[in-house]
Formats: sequence, C-alpha cells, structure tokens
Amino acid sequence: MKKQPIGIFDSGVGGLTVFKEIRRAFPHEDIVYFGDTARVPYGPKSKSTVLEYSLQNARFLMHCGAKIIVIACNTSSSVALEYLRERLTIPVLGVIRPGSEDAVATTRNQRIGVIGTEGTIRSKAYPQAIEALLLQAKVYSQPCPLFVSLVEEGWDEHPVTRVVATEYLQPLLEQDIDTLVLGCTHYPILKKVLQKVVGSGVTLVDSALAVARQLHNELPMPQSDGVGKDIFYVSDNEDKFAAIASRILEQDITSLHRVILCESWFLA
Ligand code: DGL
Repeated sequence: MKKQPIGIFDSGVGGLTVFKEIRRAFPHEDIVYFGDTARVPYGPKSKSTVLEYSLQNARFLMHCGAKIIVIACNTSSSVALEYLRERLTIPVLGVIRPGSEDAVATTRNQRIGVIGTEGTIRSKAYPQAIEALLLQAKVYSQPCPLFVSLVEEGWDEHPVTRVVATEYLQPLLEQDIDTLVLGCTHYPILKKVLQKVVGSGVTLVDSALAVARQLHNELPMPQSDGVGKDIFYVSDNEDKFAAIASRILEQDITSLHRVILCESWFLA
C-alpha cells in the first residue's frame, strides 16, 4: 500500500508549532504541511471566509494523498471542524477539543483563561468545549491579536512583548485563573514570556502538544518504518516562510513548494 502522509494545515507559519509536536510523536510518518501564507491572517476574517479557505486547504491535502487532516489553526478549528468532517472522507482533527481536555485535567480551581485570535474568541469554541467537559468551569477569554505579529517579528522575548502580554493578561489574572490555554498556533513560541507574566501559579496549556497526543488515538500503531519525510507547501512568500520555519523547527527547510490553490481541489 502506498505510504500516505499526515496532512496538517494552518493559515501560515504558526501551525509549525503543531507540526513540531506531531513530528516528535510520529517520527516514521510522512507529513505534508500546508501554510496559507497568501491569505494569512485568518484571525480577523469572517466565519464564512475561514470555512471556505479551510475546505480548500483540506482538499489540497487530500490531493497530496493525506490519510488524516489536522487543522493546526485554532481559528479554523474553532469554526470549521464539523464543516470539514461533513464534507471529507478522511478523519479530521482540530486543536480545540484536545486543548480543552488538557485544560480541564490541569485546573484545580475550575477557573480557566483562554487566549486566541479575535475569530477564535468570538466563536466561543473553547468555553463551549471546556464547559461541556466540566460543568462548573468558569472560562475567561481574551483576544491577543498583537502576539501573532510579535512572533513573526522574532520578538519572542523582547521587552515590548512582555509589556503587551501584561496588558492582555492582567484582566484574566484578576479573575484568579490557575490555567491558561494558549489557543493560537503562535502562542507556544511566547511561552517563556507568558509564564513570567502569569507567574508560577498559572499552568500554560499548549494545544499543539495536546493534539499530537490525541493523534495517537487515530493512528495508534506505527504506520511505517524509516524516517518520515517532511513536505511543506505554502501559497505565497516561500522565503519568509523558510526563515521563520527554520527558527521554529530549529532545522533547515528542504522540501518547500509554492502552490496556487485551484478550483478542482475544492470541488466536491
Ligand atoms: N493560525 C492562527 C490561529 O491559530 C493564527 C494566525 C492567524 O490569524 O491566521 O488562530
């Protein structure tokens, strides 16, 4: 049987935090990653646009032979998971449910903070998933749109990032949260600064780690031998992607191609 890859898509480079964890957990699997760098960011876009883009991205990954699709993007996951599941013939995983399960397993006082893009926070996907798992949970949400640009600028530990983080997180700290869900692909890169700002009494939950673990339920047995191949596709700006990707993944990106999404990939 032909070796089929795991397909991962994101609005751009941020989903590489998810790629990194999945690569670590599944060293033998081939992985195809699609970053929609021509249309990033998804965070401020309307639900209907994110649905349309997500379906196109997923169909492209199926065209690449993917056996399962992981939606690395929190904004897409928060609105498009069911939409894709209804339309695709292969399993689709999102990051919201795994991240919520980890949050519920982590909290001691049932007071959980969630940070994400405007789209993710507006969708209420995290509070709904968390409250469905833990009825008495109190969820406090905060959009942090500037974090995406700070990461892409490489300002992971810059003093400006600390000031911005303090401003965003103060309202959540005032609610006495003990757990903070990093509900955006870029935020795990800011873990150090975020942990300093929230202090040691608050545990950070990384939905990238959570989804990699969840994938074991879908692919429980090692599917293949040998070292898995990494294949990257983007819809624009290969050079910028390669520069940020090698910083996030701490390795050079060798197989990187630009694609233009075409009609046939998203027709039924
Ligand atoms: N990948 C997006 C997310 O996780 C962040 C970047 C964007 O707004 O597209 O929500």
